[in-house]
Order: sequence, then structure tokens, then C-alpha cells
Amino acid sequence: MKYLQFSNSDKIPALGLGTWKSAKGEVYNAVRTAIKLGYRHIDCAHVYGNEKEIGEAFSDAFKAGDVKREELWVTSKLWNNTHRKEQVEPAIKTTLKNLQLDYLDLYLIHWPVVLQDHAMYPETKDDLVSLSVTPLEETWFGMIDIKKAGLARHIGVSNFSESKIEHILDKTGILPEMNQVEMHPFLQQHGLKEYCDNRNILMTAYSPLGSADRPANRVDADEPKLFKNEIIKAIAKEQKCSEAQVMLAWAVCRETVVIPKSVNPDRLKQNLEAADIDLNTEQMNALEQINMDYRFIKGDFWCIEGSDYTLESLWG
Ligand code: A2P
Repeated sequence: MKYLQFSNSDKIPALGLGTWKSAKGEVYNAVRTAIKLGYRHIDCAHVYGNEKEIGEAFSDAFKAGDVKREELWVTSKLWNNTHRKEQVEPAIKTTLKNLQLDYLDLYLIHWPVVLQDHAMYPETKDDLVSLSVTPLEETWFGMIDIKKAGLARHIGVSNFSESKIEHILDKTGILPEMNQVEMHPFLQQHGLKEYCDNRNILMTAYSPLGSADRPANRVDADEPKLFKNEIIKAIAKEQKCSEAQVMLAWAVCRETVVIPKSVNPDRLKQNLEAADIDLNTEQMNALEQINMDYRFIKGDFWCIEGSDYTLESLWG
């Protein structure tokens, strides 16, 4: 396994298991199998609704001696309806209780979007709270406190643009250590990656395989298909590996963390093995050419008319 390093020398395994969309009945087995296969990094979030099952898998894996807590990297994320400063500590404590852990390796602000306390997703504009009411720096101050309290070893953000990171830095003096964003050969995020590299912020690629299993109302009929791309297919042939492995190897070779989701034992195994595939310069250059800045996760579900949230304000 390759690792990426934080400024205090802590190392995060470059490939971890994604758990978004892993159903409650499946995620226990997926996590147990992944750990037995050698995964040492599991990416979770409160909003995925499956942290309790993942916690049972962790507890049983520790009891069975499959892995020790200190050998496992666990990330989770603060949901949008707990962004006020005083809500951050109770939120991480709920996640820790569900995961049956006493600290997280990494805790992220999931989205730069605020919801009313009662809402998990917005149904009307009134479920959204303006960033002028609960600004991102307020949430970030809460995150800084939970790191100080030892509840999370590292803190970061997800779905943040360069300008939002600069904003919280300006207001708090503290940079996030990680920015987790959608990233794959069709959305290479060159500008954001260059910015994060310069600021020493690590990046994690979510939806690295295009998240074909996302809810049907979030799938566009005419969207491009990573698995059908001729360049990806040709490199898979050259490397004698699968198309999915090409996408994951690409992410690791450009020194980003990558978190493919699977609940299937064979795919879990091949995804883990992808971290050890070295693509050559020619293959990396060919993959660079297929970028089309295409988002599968558009974020339009936050942009309800009459609220402050627009696609420009979200990603810009
Ligand atoms: P499954 O869980 O049945 O393996 P992403 O990580 O981009 O969100 O993509 C997850 C989707 O990709 C899921 O539908 C998952 O299905 C599927 N998937 C995971 N690994 C592979 C693989 N190696 N080959 C093909 N599909 C995969």
C-alpha cells in the first residue's frame, strides 16, 4: 500500500473503502471482508446512515484480532444540519458512538452548505440556512476545537472550492488538512489540485468510478461513461487489469487518496490491488487528455430557488 503524509508525519493509506450507498444489510460484511483483505482505511459519514453497522464490523474485527485500532484509518464527516459551533462536538460524539471508537483519524465538514437542525436534505428553500447566518468559519472553529480535544487527529473539508478554503483560513488562521472532492479521469480538478498541493492540503477522490449506483434521480441519461472510455479500456488491456483498476491507479499515481465503494468481495480485492499498479508516463498523459470537467455529483440538490445557494456560489 502507498501512503500520503500529513505535516505531523501521520500517514493515510492511499486507497480506502468508500461506504456511501453501502446498504445497511451489506456494509457489515463489506467492512469485515475489506479488513481481512488488507484495507486499512475506511471512509464513513453520518449522512450515509450506516455508521452503526460499520461500528459493529470494527468492534468484531478488533475482537477477532483482524486489525488493531491504531492500524486502521477511519474518516467521517459532519453533516450539514450540525454546523453551528456548539453542534460540532455532539455530532462527532454521535459518530464515535455509532462507530464504537474513541477517536477519528480524520473528520471533515461534508459540504459548505447549512441545513436547519430538523432537515437531512432540503425539501424547500426554508430548510436551507444562509452562510451569512452560520458562516463556514464558525463551523471550522468547532472543528478546530474537536481536534484540540483529541476527538479527531486531523480535520478537513469536503466539496470546498479554493475560495472557501481561503475564506476559512483568513478568518481562523488554520488550514484544513484534507479536501475530499469528486475526482476521476473525467473530472481531474487540475486547478483545485494545484492550489491544494501549494497549500500542503491532501486531497481525496470520491466517486472515483463514477458512482453508477447513485440514486436514479441524480443520473443524467446522456452522461459520459468512464467504463466505456476507449483510452481507459486500452490502458486496462496494456496493464492486463480492469478499467476500474486503471481509474484507481491513476488517482494513486497522481498522489491523491482514493475511496472506491464496493460491497462485492471480488471487486473489493481488485480495487485494493489497484493501489500497487504503476501507470507509466505515457499512460498518465493519455488519461490527462480525457478530462472533460464533468461532475456526476452536481450539487444542484442544494440550489433551491429563493435560497442563497447556486451552482456558482457552491463550486466557485
Ligand atoms: P459494487 O458495490 O456492487 O461493487 P464509486 O466508488 O465511484 O462510488 O463507485 C461505486 C460503484 O462502482 C458501485 O456500483 C460498485 O458496485 C461499483 N464498483 C466498485 N468496484 C468496482 C469494480 N472494480 N468494477 C466495476 N464496478 C465496481
